[in-house]
Amino acid sequence: MSAADLIRARIGPAPIDCAIVLGTGLGPLADAVDEAIALAYAELPGFPRAGVSGHAGRLVVGRLEGRRVAMMQGRAHVYETGDARVMQPAIAALAGLGARALLLTNAAGSLREDMPPGSVMAIADHIGLFGPNPLIGATGDERFVSMNDAYDPALRAALGRGAAAAGVTLRSGIYAWVTGPSFETPAEIRALQRLGADAVGMSTVPEVILARHAGLRVAALSMITNFGAGMAAEAPSHTETKTVALACAQALGAVVRGFLREIAA
Ligand code: HPA
Repeated sequence: MSAADLIRARIGPAPIDCAIVLGTGLGPLADAVDEAIALAYAELPGFPRAGVSGHAGRLVVGRLEGRRVAMMQGRAHVYETGDARVMQPAIAALAGLGARALLLTNAAGSLREDMPPGSVMAIADHIGLFGPNPLIGATGDERFVSMNDAYDPALRAALGRGAAAAGVTLRSGIYAWVTGPSFETPAEIRALQRLGADAVGMSTVPEVILARHAGLRVAALSMITNFGAGMAAEAPSHTETKTVALACAQALGAVVRGFLREIAA
């Protein structure tokens, strides 16, 4: 049985309004889901194996703000194995469930002095030139997927309205993807700034490409956990990323809830 069929057998026929991927430190958002049914990734063929600390490895399906949601508590990163397609089966399963939208979240470093840790940024566009494209090896003309408006304008507007209603200042910016797992050098951070990026992180971009290929509408939020290397006295660290993401998860959670209220059921 495919992962989508297995999930469907457990959750019943009601359509999924929004699939959500929870990034580093943001997993606790899934605890707020009502009527939750949790499926361990280990039960779902192709889903990521438990990896990075700060990621639980469960799919939680239920209701939040009156919408039916499927939340991935934890993702796989390209840096774990070098496989840019590592999230392909999970995203295919979410698309197979008929999810009307996919909201990706992550922890990211800021490249802007005026966007400090604790800020929440809606991704307006991305720069994904520094790692392998997850569609390498895909066949058919559909692999040449357009990335214009990859971050769906209507969903971005819903994020803006949801954040305003929640009283959270929502920034908008360009997310640069790097594979990691080492952090950037200060010189790389300056280079990314000159390329026009506002934030940097090690996830999301391959998922957006896979999701667009699968026909999903996409929105994405970055929780800013630190300034990029060389911008602050302290060097970035994974401990800091996890701690700040957890501490600020409430603001991001408020934006997610506001967003869910805004999207049509
Ligand atoms: N760089 C890359 N990825 C990140 C960072 C960073 O500074 N912070 C959180 N994820």
